[in-house]
Amino acid sequence: MADETDIKIADDTARGVSRRNFIKGVITSGVAVSSANYLFRASTVLRGQSLSGVGERLITLNVNGQQRRVDVMKQETLAWTLRYKLGLTGTKLGCDRAECGSCTVLVDDMPYYACSVLTHTVRGRKVLTVEGLASADGTLHPVQQGVIDEQGFQCAFCMPGFIMSAVGFLKSNPNPTRSELAHGISGNLCRCQDYDKILTAMMRGAENMRRANRA
Ligand code: FES
Ligand code: FES
Repeated sequence: MADETDIKIADDTARGVSRRNFIKGVITSGVAVSSANYLFRASTVLRGQSLSGVGERLITLNVNGQQRRVDVMKQETLAWTLRYKLGLTGTKLGCDRAECGSCTVLVDDMPYYACSVLTHTVRGRKVLTVEGLASADGTLHPVQQGVIDEQGFQCAFCMPGFIMSAVGFLKSNPNPTRSELAHGISGNLCRCQDYDKILTAMMRGAENMRRANRA
């Protein structure tokens, strides 16, 4: 019996099908099958997306004072449109489910979570993102300048959202107390948790705004 097995292995080896090569072959083909499944699923999803986008429409949005023509699916969020269709990546996606505030933009001067607003609903309204805050000559918005003045953030991923929330809040209350402003921007979260410095920077921004308006 042992002799027969030896002969079989010797025979396979002679034909270049060693046990080692056979196992390697199985592993490789298994990976290939897995990859094929993955690619198949991915292409299915992509096909599904384009199918569900049958209702895509070319619309005009008012973003940062410009009229922008853009193709928008009916289920598309404003954050997605801004970042991936219009290239305005200052609007960050953190949670993508209305919890962190990193996607905050102004719509008709009111702060909104762009991840939770359908793009079609802002047609005919004014959208302002962090890219639209500075003046045409490059002068920073007073709240942006407040961040520079106080070095208010660590990684700064959350910064555009905080700035947009503060700018929106200061339109209705330009001279807030520290606790009022803290409440006003409490819909924004910072993973670095540098809230005290952030609030100091936003208070400085408020002060910069009042000074700019007096000038
Ligand atoms: S990404 Fe919109 S609230 Fe977090
Ligand atoms: S500074 Fe890092 S998330 Fe806010």
